[in-house]
Amino acid sequence: MTGAPPRVDIHAHFYPKLSRSQGETLGLAATPWLRDDGDGTGFMMEDDREYRPVQAPLWDAAARVAQMDQTGVDVQVMSATPMLFSYDAEPARAHRWAAMINDIALEMCAQFPTRLRSLCQVPLQDVDLACQEVRRSVDAGHVGVHIGNHVSGRNLDDPELIRFFAFCADEAIPVLVHPWDMMAGERMPKYMLQWLVGMPAETHLAIMSMVLSGAFEQLPEDLKICFTHGGGNFAAQIGRVDNAWHRRDIVRADCPNPPSSYATRFSVDSAVFSDDALRLLVAVMGEERIMMGSDYPFPLGETEPGKLVAGSSHLSTNAKELILAGNANVFFGLEGK
Ligand code: CO
Repeated sequence: MTGAPPRVDIHAHFYPKLSRSQGETLGLAATPWLRDDGDGTGFMMEDDREYRPVQAPLWDAAARVAQMDQTGVDVQVMSATPMLFSYDAEPARAHRWAAMINDIALEMCAQFPTRLRSLCQVPLQDVDLACQEVRRSVDAGHVGVHIGNHVSGRNLDDPELIRFFAFCADEAIPVLVHPWDMMAGERMPKYMLQWLVGMPAETHLAIMSMVLSGAFEQLPEDLKICFTHGGGNFAAQIGRVDNAWHRRDIVRADCPNPPSSYATRFSVDSAVFSDDALRLLVAVMGEERIMMGSDYPFPLGETEPGKLVAGSSHLSTNAKELILAGNANVFFGLEGK
C-alpha cells in the first residue's frame, strides 16, 4: 500500500449474517438476527423489529476489505458487536451461540487471511465453559478473546473473572475489553449519552476495579489485556485516583502500589478523537501500550482509521509506526501466524 506505514485496526466490529433460526439459539424473548436486503444494506433485527440500519461491510468480508482498501487499513482484528455477548442467557445456550458466532468469524477471515483476523467471544457467565470455548477458538484460528467490561452485575475483579484472566495468561491468549450495557441508562435516554458518558465511565470502572482490588497483583505479569476507547476516563482521572490512594487508607486497602503504576499492566486503543487527548494518553500509558483502534464501522468510529495517529503533531515516526501496527503485531502475535 503505497509506502505508507502499515495500519492494523484492533477495534473493528462485525455482526454475523445470522438467520432468524440461528438467532433462536439463545432462546431469548426477542430473537436477534440480521436481515440482508441484497443491495448493500440491511438491518439488525429483533424479531420483526428493525433495530438499526447497517451496511454490508458489517457482515460481508469482501465489502469490508474493499472499504479497508479505500481507507488504507491493512489488517483488521475483528470483534463481534458487543450486543451479541449474551451474558444473561442460559450458559449452555450462550456457549452454543458463542461457538456459532466464532465459527462464522473464522469463515469471514478465511476469505482474506492476510487482511482479516478475529477475536472470539465466550459465555463468560460460566467461566469453565468460557475457558473451553476460548481454547477451542484460538486453536481454530482466533487471535484472542473479546469480552464485556462487566458480567451479570460483577466487575472485572470478580474471583471467577480473575480465574478467566489467569487462564488466558497461562495460555498466552490476548484479551480485549469493550464496555457494554451501560450504567444509569434511565438517566441517559437522549443524545447518545450512554455512549458519550456511560461507555467511558464503564471502561474506567473496569480498569479501576482491577487496579484497586489488587487483581493485577494476583495475575501473571504477562497477561495481555487491552481496553477500548483509549481506556475511557482512565488517563484523564489517574491524578485524582493517585491522590485519593495517597490520602485515604480505604482507597489503598487492597492495592499496594500507586494506581498509576499499574498502567504498565495493560494496553488501550487510540480511539480518543483528539490530538490533545492522544498526547495525554501517550504520557500516561507510554507509546508502546497504545494500539490503533477505530470502532469501525459504526458512526462514532474514526472514519479513516489511524488518521489521528498518522497526523499527530507530537508523535515521533517510530511512535506512529508502533501505534499504527507494531504494538498490535506483538500483542496479538499477528506476524508468523
Ligand atoms: Co466498539
